[in-house]
Parts: sequence; C-alpha cells; structure tokens
Amino acid sequence: MYDLITSHLLRALEPSQHYLYKKSKYKGSRLISEMEMIEKTDYIASKVENMVILRDIVKKFGKVVASDHVNMEIKRNEFFSLLGPSGSGKTTLLRIIAGLEKPDSGIVILDGRDVTNLPPYKRNIGMVFQHLALFPHMTVYDNIAYGLKIRKLSNSEVKKRVYDMLELVKMPPEIFANRKPGQLSGGQQQRVAIARALVTEPAVLLLDEPLGALDLKIRQHMMLELKRIQRTVGTTFIYVTHDQGEALVMSDRIAVIREGRVEQVGTPSEVYEKPKTKFVASFIGEANFIDGIVKEEGISTSIGPIKVSRTHNLLGKRVVVSIRPERIRIGEEARFLENSYEGKIREVVYKGDTLIVMVTLDGIGLKVSIPSTHPESRRLDINTRTWVGWNAGDEAGVFEV
Ligand SMILES: Nc1ncnc2c1ncn2[C@@H]1O[C@H](COP(=O)(O)OP(=O)(O)O)[C@@H](O)[C@H]1O
Ligand SMILES: [Mg+2]
Repeated sequence: MYDLITSHLLRALEPSQHYLYKKSKYKGSRLISEMEMIEKTDYIASKVENMVILRDIVKKFGKVVASDHVNMEIKRNEFFSLLGPSGSGKTTLLRIIAGLEKPDSGIVILDGRDVTNLPPYKRNIGMVFQHLALFPHMTVYDNIAYGLKIRKLSNSEVKKRVYDMLELVKMPPEIFANRKPGQLSGGQQQRVAIARALVTEPAVLLLDEPLGALDLKIRQHMMLELKRIQRTVGTTFIYVTHDQGEALVMSDRIAVIREGRVEQVGTPSEVYEKPKTKFVASFIGEANFIDGIVKEEGISTSIGPIKVSRTHNLLGKRVVVSIRPERIRIGEEARFLENSYEGKIREVVYKGDTLIVMVTLDGIGLKVSIPSTHPESRRLDINTRTWVGWNAGDEAGVFEV
C-alpha cells in the first residue's frame, strides 16, 4: 500500500531524503519501522497537498513575541487570509514565509521544500504591499516586464506574458502599457503591482493589506477582482488584513491571529458561525456577551437561565455566552422560543437594509439586528416593552473564561 502512495508522492522529497527513503525500504533495513513509514507517508502527503507549511515558528523582537509557536498549513490553489488586529504578527509571518525575516526557531516548507535557510530570491514568491513600490520612472509595461528581463526571456516572450497579465488584471495594453504609475489611479496601480508579481509565475503570492489605501467603493470592487484573478491563475494567495470584511469575502480559509498566536483556522462560515474563542467571536462580526455559570439545566445568568445545545464538560465553570445580533428574534415571535426574555427597547437605529435595536433586560443591554422589511420593525417603539429570544440550537457560543 505504501508503495502506491509513496511512489506517487516521492517527487515531493528532496533528493537526499529520496535516497535515504529508498535505501531503507529496498534493502530491508529495519531502521524505519512501519510506524515511521506511516508518519513519513503522512508527512509527504502533507507536503504534496500543502503549498506552505509552517512548523512551530517562533520569532521575537526583544521582549515582543511576534510569532508564538505558529503552526499552519496552506493548501495549493488556496486563497488564505491572515486576519488579526494591528500588531498581532501578521506581517511578521508573511515576511518569514518570504524569507525577509528569519525565525528564531521553526521550519518553513514551501512547495515541498524546506526553505527555512533560503534567501528570498530563491523562494519563488511574489509580493504585493499596501505601499507599493512600482518604479515611478518606468512605464506600466516595463514595470511588469522587469522580472522577466532579469530572467533573460526573449523580447517576444516578455511581450506576450506582459500583455497576458494586463488582460488578466483588465488593463487593456493599448491604453495602459505606456503610461507611468503617476498617470494611474490607486486601484489601477495595485492592478499593475499584482500583474508584476504574478508575471514570473510564483508558487505563492503574498499580499500585505494591498487594498488598505483605497477608497471603500474601489476596495470593495478590488476584493472581487482579486478573488477572480486568484481563481483564474490558481496561484496560492496569502492575504494579510485586519479587515474581517475583506477576509470573509475573499478567503477559502482564514487564520485568526492574536498576539502572535493562531486562535482559529477555518472557512469564513466556520470562523463566523462557530468561533472557537471569545476573541474570534468579537473580532469577526459582532456579538453580545453574557456572563454565566454552567449548571445541569443550562447556563445561569443575570437575565435568567440560557439553554444551549451542548455545554461540553464545563459543568460548574464560569463561561461567557455569545450570541450574534442577527440571531436574536424580537417581538411576539420571540416570546415562545426556548430562550425568551422580556426587556425594554432603548434605541432603534435605521441602517437601510437592517434595523439595530438596543434592548435592556435586567441591567444588561442586547443588540438585535433585524431586516428593516421585517413586519415587527413598525412596532418597535423606544421605551416600550418587548420580547427577545432564540432557540437552544447552535445559535449561541459558550466560552470558558
Ligand atoms: N523589525 C521589528 N523590530 C521590532 N519589533 C517589531 C519588528 N517588526 C515587528 N515588530 C513587532 O512585532 C509585533 C508584530 O508586528 P507585525 O507582524 O508587523 O504585526 P501586524 O502586521 O499584525 O500589524 C508588533 O508588536 C511589532 O511592533
Ligand atoms: Mg502588518
């Protein structure tokens, strides 16, 4: 069985490992036990499946621990985001993958190779940053062609590739090829930066807050454009942002980073619907938090008992319950749900598509969000009493404190 798997996967090994692996197998050496074989096979399989693997990365700047034992696996063809507040260590991880920063300890595997000690230019990586560095005195064409000319490609090959890239980022060559960066809008400059980074066909494209300097409308448009470009070329994208909206819209998977540590890795819906920690619940989207203690019959809180589907093994523990504003129902329809509480409407804020209703009950405030087309919306008057509630299913998260 291993023969079948390994012969298919051996290509991912470095030649030296290849040799050792064969030697141990064919000469009947007992050095590699069956267990080690399985581990090795898993290891190779992981190298084949993943474009980037970070193993136990630690990076300190003086007393600041910028990367705190980070483990991460980024799949081939994946749009993967590193999401976290400013200073959480996102850029440091990106720079470690690029080879611009050397980790104090840990291993970086890129495209099946251990690149931990390789300089950036030997890593086959493209980069795009917020404060981009297009060459201001060069035309768009020459900016994109730069990396290809260094590689000594023929003029016709360079031209073909540059034109293909301009088409990919939707900047018709006949209009833009001869412009200088100063004659482009911010969004167009970022398109050129992306084209320039992709033209050499890197294994991975690293993007560090590339849309941060753009206006909201252009940023929203560029999010969809980046996603389209990534799907078209199939290159692994690793995208750094502090903006949860960007991460949710574009990513196949998101790693939520806090103080140098990975809090959770998951698809956008996993990190949003099933946050593993209070931090993730508060950083991605909005949530109401209610303190309580886990009892047999539910969670005892100041607003009354809250029933949840599972309390894991938290009996007797102090916890915080999190519930998203859009998961809470309001008015008469909330009255007979498994968790139902009476409160007073303090504030109603019209936001176009939604209404935000602040309700107070026994001293705590709950934020509720309903579609503004909801029939109940016409009955929500400030200082009147109402019901809020939700069912015990998967609506609420429970985190130990
Ligand atoms: N070259 C450096 N020298 C000293 N401290 C640094 C350096 N680079 C980053 N740091 C610190 O490491 C932490 C993580 O920084 P960074 O990776 O840039 O975070 P992010 O990109 O998430 O905002 C911060 O506390 C930052 O001040
Ligand atoms: Mg940063």
